[in-house]
Amino acid sequence: MRVCIIGTGYVGLVTGGTLAELGNNVICVDNNEEKVAMLNRDEIPIYEPGLKEIVRSAREAGRIKFITSIRDGVRASDIIFIAVSTPPKPDGSADLSMVAAVAKEVAENLNGYKVVVDKSTVPVKTGEKVAETIARYSQGDGEFDVVSNPEFLREGSAIYDTFHPDRIVIGTSSRRAADMLIELYKPLDAPVIVTDINSAEIIKHAANSFLATKISFANALVHICEASGANVEEVTKGVGLDNRVGSRFLNAGVGYGGSCFPKDVSAFIAIADELGYDFKLLKEVENINEFQSEYFFNKIKETLWILEDKTIAILGLAFKPNTDDMRNAPAEKIITRLLAEGAKIKAFDPKSMEKAKETLPEIEYCDNPYQAAEGADALVIITEWNEFKEMDLGRIKDLLNQPIILDGRNIYDPAKMEELGFIYKSVGR
Ligand code: UDX
Repeated sequence: MRVCIIGTGYVGLVTGGTLAELGNNVICVDNNEEKVAMLNRDEIPIYEPGLKEIVRSAREAGRIKFITSIRDGVRASDIIFIAVSTPPKPDGSADLSMVAAVAKEVAENLNGYKVVVDKSTVPVKTGEKVAETIARYSQGDGEFDVVSNPEFLREGSAIYDTFHPDRIVIGTSSRRAADMLIELYKPLDAPVIVTDINSAEIIKHAANSFLATKISFANALVHICEASGANVEEVTKGVGLDNRVGSRFLNAGVGYGGSCFPKDVSAFIAIADELGYDFKLLKEVENINEFQSEYFFNKIKETLWILEDKTIAILGLAFKPNTDDMRNAPAEKIITRLLAEGAKIKAFDPKSMEKAKETLPEIEYCDNPYQAAEGADALVIITEWNEFKEMDLGRIKDLLNQPIILDGRNIYDPAKMEELGFIYKSVGR
């Protein structure tokens, strides 16, 4: 099929790359000329395992190209994905100005029947507005349908997630449009839900908000477990093995971050508010999440007492492993608090240090965990990269000024750490 993707951010690039890999002819459009030039040289502006390889092989096979003109992309395609960003405004609601601008330009360039698919995460009723906008600016000429087709990929496993989705959600009132998308996704062999456009839009916000709720629930249990001497890992395991609950997304830690959960939870609160419902449950999910990084900072402070002139080694900066993404990373909040108390930070992250330098220029960046640990008064784990699980802890102990480890992701066994002679503190255990 002939597909145009407008916006080459995370979602746009991964969707474009995977649809090209499935044999479609894909045109990716972005108004950033520099980015388009980079992509045409096979330079991928984000770190995502496997993405570079599939984009390169699709380009070599002539199945994907990158251009700056929406007009050319729309005219050469049957299905047009809108995958531009919808950043949060100060009140938490989504800024839809980019979606609106794209809809207008798509409308002005319709030449024959087009399916316009919203892949960006947008508030309910956006599809209706997009359809109205296209109808208005195409002056009744264009034949089109609008579909909401939310994306559920996770950073770090985006390619796998796109090829193996739990479900594909197609929201539209048009049978013709639904059939074209069912055909497009046929090779994926995943369950498909065809529903109305408003329900599809809500599915995305509800799914992310529910997952964030699971994490905040586990993080709330941390405090009950610490106060009672229970172990949060045992508790979440015991709860999660009930099939009705499920064991995933119940890992306690320093809170959720990234470009989706914080944004989508606050957007859903704003959407509910606009619809006349006070979503207090989600407000508490946010509060628990905010508190979790503060709680962990306090744990560091209680352990080291006066932080002024203490050196702290931080392992892990990205909001989760296997990504270089620093957006809403708990590490940033915790480090900012430590710096404000006069601590000196030596940090290491396998992928995100370049990005971290933009917001945390005042800390020392190290080449590996051992360099970070050398001469530090404590070592703090914030992101659970695999390589930290496999570190030579004996060597770490020798390098530290004091054998103190504060583990914000519960990656080590407390009994083993004690045996190795560490003062070891983790979360909810
Ligand atoms: C998320 C959704 O999973 C995905 O479906 C959606 O399309 C985009 O948002 P992503 O932000 O890439 O994906 O990361 P995810 O793996 O979901 O983790 C989000 C945050 O939650 C991370 O900060 C992670 O550390 C945290 N988390 C996750 C926990 O603290 N505990 C858990 O059990 C799971």
